[in-house]
Amino acid sequence: MEIRKFRPEIPTPTKIDNPTEGVITPSTLDSETVSILTDRIKDEYTAHYYYRSAANWCRNKNYKKVASFFEVEASSELDHAKGLQEYMDDFNVMPQIPVTETEHDFENLVEIINGAYQMEQGLMKAYNQSSSQLFTSDLTTFDFLKEYREIQKQAVIEYSDLLNALVLVDYNDKFQVLYFEQTYF
Ligand SMILES: [Fe+2]
Repeated sequence: MEIRKFRPEIPTPTKIDNPTEGVITPSTLDSETVSILTDRIKDEYTAHYYYRSAANWCRNKNYKKVASFFEVEASSELDHAKGLQEYMDDFNVMPQIPVTETEHDFENLVEIINGAYQMEQGLMKAYNQSSSQLFTSDLTTFDFLKEYREIQKQAVIEYSDLLNALVLVDYNDKFQVLYFEQTYF
């Protein structure tokens, strides 16, 4: 019995008549993908500035441990933004960085944690929405975003835990908030 081997169909290379003029232009991302990734770059910078402001506020109020935590958060948001831009560049798209909100006023640590949870949950929904849009049109970018969906899931879990921990203390009592900060960061 003859065993037929599976051979995937790949396009036959086009013969180039004049090699000096015949450099192929490599593929790029379609406009929907670029638009989606640009929105997510904006979100990552928004998150960076939020955590940067939170770190400044905590440092100023002498919440030393949580200040260090937000320092790390701020720099990882920059890494996420960089990753999106490098992906665009890998596919020959010059990334554009949208303008975003940079100023934040905080009253207390609880407000910062509440805001961080809302922001991370919003980002998780945005990455899920972006991914479902790209699933049918651009599977390569869909796969690339898998890491970002995982990052967002972990962030939502992390801040959800912090909200649950805040309920364990009287967050109107400064000393208990300090205990929360010393215990959970
Ligand atoms: Fe991020």
